[in-house]
Amino acid sequence: MSLKISLVVGARPNFMKAAPLMAELKKYPALFAPQLIHSGQHYDEKLSRLFFDELKMPQPDTYLGVGSASHAVQTSRIMTALEEVWLKNPCDLVVVFGDVNSTMAASIVAAKLCIKIAHVEAGLRSFDNTMPEEINRIVTDRLSDYLFISEPSGIVNLKSEGVPEEKLKFVGNIMIDTLVAHLEVARKSGILEQFGLKPQNYIAMTMHRPANVDNPELLGTLIEIFNEIGRECPIIFPCHPRTQKNMAAFGLIDKIDKKALRLTEPLGYLDFLKLQSEARLVMTDSGGIQEETTYLNIPCITMRENTERPVTVEVGSNIITGVDPHIIRDAAFKSLRGETKKGRVPDLWDGHTAERIVDYLRKNVCH
Ligand code: UD1
Repeated sequence: MSLKISLVVGARPNFMKAAPLMAELKKYPALFAPQLIHSGQHYDEKLSRLFFDELKMPQPDTYLGVGSASHAVQTSRIMTALEEVWLKNPCDLVVVFGDVNSTMAASIVAAKLCIKIAHVEAGLRSFDNTMPEEINRIVTDRLSDYLFISEPSGIVNLKSEGVPEEKLKFVGNIMIDTLVAHLEVARKSGILEQFGLKPQNYIAMTMHRPANVDNPELLGTLIEIFNEIGRECPIIFPCHPRTQKNMAAFGLIDKIDKKALRLTEPLGYLDFLKLQSEARLVMTDSGGIQEETTYLNIPCITMRENTERPVTVEVGSNIITGVDPHIIRDAAFKSLRGETKKGRVPDLWDGHTAERIVDYLRKNVCH
């Protein structure tokens, strides 16, 4: 009998982690019966469906349609819906990805139904409990049976939390599988022409963390700094709905120097990969973009106080500036002057992580 596996996704960063695993599991129909469950945490065309299309992901077998809400309401909606799904249709293993609310919600429900849990991207820690993702990571790892780790810090963190070594497996970074598989086709994207950009002549930016965009004063100061940096080298800023809404609500839209700081709708996977790969500099508060720029060896400024992905700083091209606008500005100008950080690709970020996970499942979970 094949192993019934539910892969649970919900938000944009989950999709590129689930796609390669789904494809690899499907190579062994006698061993695995994978099903995709989409919580609907992200539902905008540009945050969800576009990614499914570009990554050639199968349509979800189950769509929960939970939508946006406060953390507690969103998490509990996902939990209620998932419990119903698994009570009706039991499975043998639940696979969760990353650190979004859907990840934690699925882990809690699976644990209480005594379903085994595999966490892909386990062990990352920012040691900052003000980040909702940190709570999601801690809870998910605590409940997981198989912890698939993307970088060495994950092993250290989980061991220090007392997780038995036999649960840990260092497999590398599955998001890089997707990057490797799509880089060639992404290079053909017309996004640079669309915005009239030349390679190495612009900055690519993303910013959506509550810590950066929920405080009107900080967001206002950041926009002023971005205007200044953007007059030196234009910034292209595909804007998350949370950031767009806050800029409008705080009356900041008029403060934007539209030539220097060019806002766009969120971009699809391929266009954004192209945008990163040709950028002179990337500025972000995202988790995954720190990793993608490290793989591409593009200088990256992370506008956060910490990172749960220290390998991108220790080995890769990433620097952490915190959110002090003046430090961000100095770091950006330094980078534009050519004083950039070069890095190398971390171990096992090689495009074969999904194979290693499936190999592990074949040898250790299938009976
Ligand atoms: C979520 C993840 C975050 C990840 C990010 C990537 C959590 C706690 N956070 O943050 O780790 O980096 O996804 O994008 O899970 N919204 C829309 N359309 C959508 C989805 C959201 O307009 O399709 C707006 C809504 O106003 C919503 C807000 O964005 O309230 C926040 O959405 P939510 O899913 O709660 O978190 P993200 O900020 O997207």
